Amino acid sequence: MFAVSSLLVTKLVSFMKTVAQIGISFGALVLLGLYSYQNSLIYPSSLNDGRGVCATPDEYDMPYELVNLKTEDGETLQCYSIKQDASSPHYANKTVLVLSPNAGNIGHGLPIVSIFYRNFGYNVFIYSYRGYGRSTGSPSEKGLKIDAQRVIQYLTEEDEQYQQSSLVLYGRSLGGAVAIYIAATMSSAVSALILENTFLSIRKTVPHVFPMLKYFTRFVHQHWDSEKLVPQIPSKMPVLLLSARKDEIVPPEHMDKINSLMKSEQKFFYTFENSTHNETVVQPDYWEHVQRFIQDEVNPVGY
Ligand SMILES: *[C@@H]1O[C@H](CO)[C@@H](O)[C@H](O)[C@H]1NC(C)=O
Ligand SMILES: *[C@@H]1O[C@H](CO)[C@@H](O)[C@H](O)[C@H]1NC(C)=O
Ligand SMILES: *[C@@H]1O[C@H](CO)[C@@H](O)[C@H](O)[C@H]1NC(C)=O
Repeated sequence: MFAVSSLLVTKLVSFMKTVAQIGISFGALVLLGLYSYQNSLIYPSSLNDGRGVCATPDEYDMPYELVNLKTEDGETLQCYSIKQDASSPHYANKTVLVLSPNAGNIGHGLPIVSIFYRNFGYNVFIYSYRGYGRSTGSPSEKGLKIDAQRVIQYLTEEDEQYQQSSLVLYGRSLGGAVAIYIAATMSSAVSALILENTFLSIRKTVPHVFPMLKYFTRFVHQHWDSEKLVPQIPSKMPVLLLSARKDEIVPPEHMDKINSLMKSEQKFFYTFENSTHNETVVQPDYWEHVQRFIQDEVNPVGY
């Protein structure tokens, strides 16, 4: 009797050890998966057929040049360059660099490009991050930063019309993190900064988007640490902040904190009480704020 139950206990202990091992292995597997696949969560470039059909500016009645920029590490970036006639007496001499959010491709951004180009009369440059649209490679924070450097190099050194015009960065969500990176580290190239619904860092955003992962944020290796970069943006840079107060992806408090960290002496903060994350561009007054900012705060003032 004793012998039997002792055997039973031994078996039971061994069984439980196996269960624990399976549990630990499973947990490790989940973490490994999270570690490996977080790039596809953070950069869903295939969403909305992002790697398939990519609309071109002529479909929106905008003349354009397709520019393919080669990065120092061998990727090719698909860019649409959409310029105004610089000899026109009404030429505004301003360029908007559109920095895209994380889903879809630059074809999806063309309705916004069209407002800057056709309604407001500015030059517009928009490009696909690596791994998006028709750009080669796969997205990562390191790669997207190299892409941003390459685009700024093109706009400030390789094209005369862009070189002479005032550059305004317009970044939504992930594009806002790229814009902050450019404004903080390449500020001499930038005349003004517009940010919409962007975040303090990926780590601080993950718990809101994936509540189940809130204990695992230290495994997030894509940082986009805007909280650290914002204070480095020069105080002379005009800044426009646009914040959706019903944002379900990035808590609006992130924009509040970015606002409080921003040292700009020409800072404008507008809130959209009814808006969720991706529909801020269709809120009343949104484009009036954007146009007035570019007209009145960016040289040459009045255009
Ligand atoms: C645009 O502005 C720059 C800098 O102020 C100036 O040098 C250039 O001549 C302007 N270009 C046009 C076409 O007005
Ligand atoms: C907010 O949305 C609701 C419902 O769609 C609408 O009735 C209300 O007028 C909106 N408020 C503002 C300030 O736009
Ligand atoms: C916002 O996202 C939803 C779902 O992803 C999409 O159906 C909708 O068209 C988007 N709205 C805008 C204004 O982009």
